Amino acid sequence: MNGLHHENGYLGKEPWWKDATFYQVYPASFKDSDGDGWGDIPGLISKIDYLHDLGVDVVWLSPVFESPQADMGYDVSDYQKIYAPYGTVEDVDALVEACHVRGMKLILDLVVNHTSIEHGWFKESRSSKTNPKRDWYIWKPARYNSEGQRIPPTNWRGYFAGPTWTWDEHTQEYYLHLYASEQPDLNWESEACREAIYDNTMRFWLERGVDGFRIDTVNKYSKRTEYVDASITDPSSTCQPAPEMWCNGPRIHEFIHEMRTKALEPYGAVSVGELSNTPHPSQVLPYVSSAARELDMVFEFSMIRLGTGGMFGPKYTYVPFTLPQMKAIVAKWQTFIEGTDGWTTVFCENHDNGRAVSRFGDCSTPELWQASAKTLALWQATLTGTLFLYQGQEIGMTNMPATWGIDKYKDVESLNFYAEAVASGDQKTIADTMHGLRILARDHSRIPFQWDDSPNAGFAEKGVKTWMQIHDEYRDINAAKQLVDQDSILNFYKRILQLRKKYKDLFVFGTFRLLQGEHKAIFSYVKESPHETSNSYPQTNGHSVNGHDGRKRAAVVVLNFSKDKQECLDVRDVFDCNDNDTIRLLVSTQHNEDDEGLTLGKNTSTPALQPWEGRVYVNF
Ligand code: NOJ
Repeated sequence: MNGLHHENGYLGKEPWWKDATFYQVYPASFKDSDGDGWGDIPGLISKIDYLHDLGVDVVWLSPVFESPQADMGYDVSDYQKIYAPYGTVEDVDALVEACHVRGMKLILDLVVNHTSIEHGWFKESRSSKTNPKRDWYIWKPARYNSEGQRIPPTNWRGYFAGPTWTWDEHTQEYYLHLYASEQPDLNWESEACREAIYDNTMRFWLERGVDGFRIDTVNKYSKRTEYVDASITDPSSTCQPAPEMWCNGPRIHEFIHEMRTKALEPYGAVSVGELSNTPHPSQVLPYVSSAARELDMVFEFSMIRLGTGGMFGPKYTYVPFTLPQMKAIVAKWQTFIEGTDGWTTVFCENHDNGRAVSRFGDCSTPELWQASAKTLALWQATLTGTLFLYQGQEIGMTNMPATWGIDKYKDVESLNFYAEAVASGDQKTIADTMHGLRILARDHSRIPFQWDDSPNAGFAEKGVKTWMQIHDEYRDINAAKQLVDQDSILNFYKRILQLRKKYKDLFVFGTFRLLQGEHKAIFSYVKESPHETSNSYPQTNGHSVNGHDGRKRAAVVVLNFSKDKQECLDVRDVFDCNDNDTIRLLVSTQHNEDDEGLTLGKNTSTPALQPWEGRVYVNF
């Protein structure tokens, strides 16, 4: 059953989703089966064995519902229909079945902060001020400035540039949208609206056998209801960032608790919420405390946002960062659950960010690309929490080529930020924005998956025009090539996902302690298990337990985040070894499996780390 059921598992009582490996599929770009250049559900089903072989337990499918695609399906016009290019409701049933027969699970993307303007609820709501669904969305009258011009009810800036309000001629009011004007926000203050959301979206899909949801923008359901201006932090604009007005609002915990108890818990559904603008552990814990019964886990974004100029105006003005800064963020979010009943997640890619190997690794040569992608893999696989991978991460897919111009970018956010830069008329702003987009844009992770070296990279048939361009490097970077190469990134992922499961007490559930916090090139840390070395936990064949009975099982992870050879810290010292103790190399990014088990005996210094090498040593 692929490790999903742990009746006798870790401490015997942890929920299945804690040590599961999740894998996000961006369906438009995963696999096209019908020759329209757009990925689809039958295409995904044809690749389920690939995911199963990789070690994936749960597929997270980004939105496939009926949608005009103003924001790639995060604008749903019918929650119970499937956008025809993706397939049908029956195809989702078949996908559920394909997962379940392999012992895998399927979660869908639940987008219920907003709908599409094409959703029937919004059409009714905008039809008249007296429509019973009028208050299912957030409508406000206009204001007028001193010159008598109509202006929006507040000065808030939306995510995709521009105001959060759009004027509706028909009923002469503005409606609120935190994202595109095609994505009006639902009004969770209306109980009837909440009930309709639970029934129409969650129960409908859970009844069909889906196992849970990744929940979009989960902390924006409750807004502050005063609807007042935000203070002016960007004097050059009429729109101001205002997350304090619409994020983590006064009723948010009440709404999420209700959603869980009424719609998710009765089905045993797993939930992982997207929690942006919430950078303090004290704010995050109430969402993930198991006693609070809100969400099983959330995505906190401090790490993945490194390099952005913030979430609003200057988002795409790239801000370089250092390794110590990154390590401090990781340490903060690794340790914040220690001693609590909360849980955390591990991820470095998703559909809203550039590729990890391009942002945190090194793509300057094929050797460094491969070495750094493996070291990033080892980093992720040894961190505490539930691990999420994003499609293509396992083969080291990179950002779109730097030579590609703005015409290759399709995302509404990229295009709006670029247009805003152009409208400024300032050449430096335009150049800076384009530079930022080349590193950070959401488009990079959305280009078609590189399956093989055939035309269209095996994503679509030869001659088909794909919805986004195939990467220029698909002949060098593709899954087929890596499947047969024992040294590939893909095979390394397979191996370490197994190790993560085998030693889940250390990697999934262990405590985290950062070492060398100020080191500019090495990322090193200790993971410690609640189990002792004498514990009858599985041992790797041929290696005896060392003399440290009664000590905690521990791992020391040393990762060279640079292209230069680096002296390694003295690992025996970190373990506080006695002369008789043996420290064992569990895995290295630069050795194959046969070399492992190498020991660091008494008086042995830890060898230097090769460029972008990563290693894990253990004391058992
Ligand atoms: C977060 C999603 O991940 C992103 O892709 C989308 O644009 C917004 N929420 C709006 O739904």
